[in-house]
Amino acid sequence: MTATDGTAGTAADGTGTALPDAVRHLRELALSAAGAAAVRVAARLGLADALGDAPRTAADLAADVGADPAATLRLLRVLASHGLFTATDDGRWAHTPMSRLLRDDAPLGLRHSVLWATEPWTWQLWPHLEQAVRSGHSVFEDLHGQEFFAYLHAEAPQSAEVFNRAMTQSSRLSGRAIADVLDLAGAEVVADIAGGQGHVLRTLLERHDHLRGVLFDLPEVVAAADPALRPGGALAGRVRLVAGDCRHDVPVRADLYLLKNILEWDDDSTVATLRSIVAAARPGARVMVLENLIDGSPEMRFTTAMDLLLLLNVGGRKHTRQGLLDLMAKADLRVTEVRPVNSYLHLIAATVPG
Ligand SMILES: C[S@@+](CC[C@H](N)C(=O)[O-])C[C@H]1O[C@@H](n2cnc3c(N)ncnc32)[C@H](O)[C@@H]1O
Repeated sequence: MTATDGTAGTAADGTGTALPDAVRHLRELALSAAGAAAVRVAARLGLADALGDAPRTAADLAADVGADPAATLRLLRVLASHGLFTATDDGRWAHTPMSRLLRDDAPLGLRHSVLWATEPWTWQLWPHLEQAVRSGHSVFEDLHGQEFFAYLHAEAPQSAEVFNRAMTQSSRLSGRAIADVLDLAGAEVVADIAGGQGHVLRTLLERHDHLRGVLFDLPEVVAAADPALRPGGALAGRVRLVAGDCRHDVPVRADLYLLKNILEWDDDSTVATLRSIVAAARPGARVMVLENLIDGSPEMRFTTAMDLLLLLNVGGRKHTRQGLLDLMAKADLRVTEVRPVNSYLHLIAATVPG
């Protein structure tokens, strides 16, 4: 039994009784898809919404979400081993800070972020990681015959909706911190390029009454922008919604351009996007890039995993600080400052040359 039950006597150095950390971690890593699958099921079933402040049995929860009671118990055990939900002494289940993040009513909830990171297209891509690592290229077009975002909007609109909501959830996490660090002195018009549904732009406009904004993204995304920014919305009078492909043309004049988590595709597209902005902007306009850098921060496990997913889906990457600075230099931008926004996001501030 000891070779498979993981209880004792399997020390790799042959000494032992206790399973060494290295063995335990490696075995867990090899089966970590189970954790991703389990958290996806919890998010899809709405387990976190079914559980309120009072602990409940697995059977009660299963009945509420329409699942098998014994299988729900097994699912809860896996989730609890990762810190989502906890078993009480009398065998019921209670929330933890992590499981509360799966609730739809959590102010900084991550339910859509979890769904997005585990959407069906991700499971189709991971088996091709070996090919991507061998070749250094995305496998997406080989599999689906079109670019990732085109596929998402044309073939998987529900996934596109999940994606957009996930981006909004992740922007909620950092929106205030971004507004705190951004120096908007002298800026009257701010353009958020590939700004998703516009959460960051909305935060800035709500904080600065004098500011006007432009939200630029793909047509389907702009059409589903934050209702406050759309015609009839509270901020609509101060906002212009512009649809297009930022790699080809950014027909927007602004004092300050924001690019948050967009320079993550292939390097040619990154440089093309920056050049589109340089071509459209007046000399002296400011360009603020917000990215998760591969920099040894506490979020490295997330950032490096996302780096591999970006390789698979858009042939892209998360950047090192120097890698990103090199690409900005290729677009002729003058970098003036690099500073952390929070534990996982950096601001790289630049100006458009005269
Ligand atoms: C990772 S999301 C970031 C969204 C937003 N900046 C944020 O941080 O929440 C990338 C965004 O780029 C947009 N996008 C992708 N390709 C684009 C293109 N060719 N032109 C303009 N926007 C594009 C997507 O629709 C999406 O909103």
